[in-house]
Amino acid sequence: VNATPLNIAIAGLGTVGGGLMKLIADQGDLLEKRAGRPIRVAAVSAKTRGKNRGFALDGAQWFDDAAKMAAEANVEAVVELIGGSDGVARQVCENALAKGRHVVTANKALLAHHGTALARAAEKANVALAFEAAVAGGIPVIKALREGLAGNRLSRVYGILNGTCNYILTQMQESKREFAEVLAEAQSLGYAEADPSFDVDGIDTAHKLAILASVSFGTEVGFDAVHVEGIRHVSALDIAFADELGYRIKLLGIARPTEHGIEQRVHPCMVDATAPIARVSGVFNAVVADGDFVGSTVFQGRGAGAGPTASAVAADLVDIARGVRVPAFSVPAGKLAKLKASPMERHRGAYYMRLMVQDRPGVIAQVAQALADDSVSMEAVLQRARHPTEAVPVVFITHETEEAAMNRVLAKIAALGTVVEPPRMIRIEPLSQ
Ligand SMILES: NC(=O)c1ccc[n+]([C@@H]2O[C@H](COP(=O)([O-])OP(=O)(O)OC[C@H]3O[C@@H](n4cnc5c(N)ncnc54)[C@H](OP(=O)(O)O)[C@@H]3O)[C@@H](O)[C@H]2O)c1
Repeated sequence: VNATPLNIAIAGLGTVGGGLMKLIADQGDLLEKRAGRPIRVAAVSAKTRGKNRGFALDGAQWFDDAAKMAAEANVEAVVELIGGSDGVARQVCENALAKGRHVVTANKALLAHHGTALARAAEKANVALAFEAAVAGGIPVIKALREGLAGNRLSRVYGILNGTCNYILTQMQESKREFAEVLAEAQSLGYAEADPSFDVDGIDTAHKLAILASVSFGTEVGFDAVHVEGIRHVSALDIAFADELGYRIKLLGIARPTEHGIEQRVHPCMVDATAPIARVSGVFNAVVADGDFVGSTVFQGRGAGAGPTASAVAADLVDIARGVRVPAFSVPAGKLAKLKASPMERHRGAYYMRLMVQDRPGVIAQVAQALADDSVSMEAVLQRARHPTEAVPVVFITHETEEAAMNRVLAKIAALGTVVEPPRMIRIEPLSQ
């Protein structure tokens, strides 16, 4: 091969940037054969120039200012691997697109907030905006949804999109320990950040879900419309009850069209323990897409880490080198529909509700009355232990009902004198087979 190399600039040389440098060094020949031209790192930028990174920067030109590099380096494509929804990362992408350079990024926060605007800018400049690495790390799910499933209308897309949360829930399940203890251990092992809030409060999952929804339904990216709950309130007791009922508790991001618009929600779910997604454990991620012609498709693999994330970035670079151009969010940016959000109060589903009650005659009847008042029908009641003086847990499973009705029921029940803690509610998600 003797074609012109694809010269690229890399902004950010941390976990992902370092992984990409290594992949390009190790797999250069393979990439060249597949892309039809070599991929060459012509420019790099990071915060601290002198840092020992454990890899050679060889002939790459160093820039102290990543945004300046994006505008001025002599490259066809800029890879943004800094992170953050605004600031330098955003400037890097905007500058590159304004100068007619392709952009590859792993930055889900940036895309969740500014994805539509960036896609418009890319389209205007007739260049690629590629972000395979931004959702589910090494799993090529963007390509699968956008290209592989292009012949389908999707009725739902959902997934385990945050490895930290899945690791914590898996550990809680296996060791029967509480959230706080498992989180502390995950932090000491490096599986959770010192400030874990982006992960455990569901924000990272919501970023990725907003991107998946746009790719799946051809709507503008709408992070603000995502209903977000994290996993802090999941307790060992609820995990034990879930087990008894044949469920696993997973933090899912779920998007689907409903009669009210597009529903986007992130929250802990009870899922059938035998479903494929229930068996995705530890730091692994998975995405399931339900299509009208294809049926249900399941993708799983590593959602983070230097190798998997670099793998996804490299695939985007090979596409660019080959001259492949596809609309970032499945339809041309100018044709993305305005997002009409289906409100959470209109959500319909079955619910798990766990109460701590004083074990007195009549308590269950009171709760049953509160449910009946809002026409929420009960499928099952579960009471394991009895105690003459201490509060005991009682679990109620409802039939399908509307979230608004369930919220009214929960408020009423919380006010009962015999219910000693705020009720815990976990939604039950029926899964495709
Ligand atoms: N880590 C993963 O597994 C993973 C998976 C999927 C997606 N992502 C996404 O990939 C992106 C990068 O994540 P990461 O884990 O690689 O982060 P990281 O290890 O913290 O690396 C960030 C890099 O950005 C550089 N940087 C920071 N501020 C800068 C500035 N003002 N100008 C130029 N460079 C700057 C840092 O420079 P120094 O090295 O000099 O400090 C560092 O090299 C994020 O958007 C993240 O969400 C990460």
